Amino acid sequence: MELLLDTANLEKIRGALDKYPVSGVTTNPSILGKEGSADFISTINSILEEIGTLPLHVQVVGKTKDEMVGEGLSLSKLSRNIYVKVPVTKDGLGAIKELSKAGVKVTATAIYSSIQGILASIAGARYLAVYCNRMEGSGIDYENVIDEISSTVKDSVVLGASFKNAGQVVKAFYAGARAVTVDPGLLDSALSSPLIESAVGAFRSDWDEKYGGRSISELV
Ligand code: G3P
Repeated sequence: MELLLDTANLEKIRGALDKYPVSGVTTNPSILGKEGSADFISTINSILEEIGTLPLHVQVVGKTKDEMVGEGLSLSKLSRNIYVKVPVTKDGLGAIKELSKAGVKVTATAIYSSIQGILASIAGARYLAVYCNRMEGSGIDYENVIDEISSTVKDSVVLGASFKNAGQVVKAFYAGARAVTVDPGLLDSALSSPLIESAVGAFRSDWDEKYGGRSISELV
């Protein structure tokens, strides 16, 4: 299973890499738009520098198949760790086919239906990004879509995306996703329960009472 970070914020990426078992970073034009620098290439290069050998998924914005293919080829030259994100539209599907044939690693994105995911996999996409929260908001059963895609495709990984809470992340994995991409803030919130803090606090005070506040390193 894989955990990716859905952010272009360098501080958030740095903090999350320190704490969480991160397999890569995903971005899209809206996520990049939230960050300070208007210099696209310098933002991408800063993220690549921050994450070392981990994959970075970057989305094309072209309207036609040829524009998307051109952008994808340029992006893929920035680093061998780039995955080119392509939305699964009619033009996008053609671009996924052509880019994959050219050896570019592709992540199919904006997936709201099983047929999009299955077609993108046939076209050669390595990851299939399913937009869970957006689907839930539109009354689409994302768990069923993930189940249908992951039970059908063999050569692509279903990547749950667009999450607003940890419950959706768990449901996506349970439905068959092998990877998810989340904002680090969601992980921080999921691990900030008062129940966890109270259990850990009680262990600490029992330890201090018995061993006078000394650390295990002092005693071992
Ligand atoms: O990677 C992009 C996808 O996660 C969209 O997320 O939060 O804009 O629905 P959101």
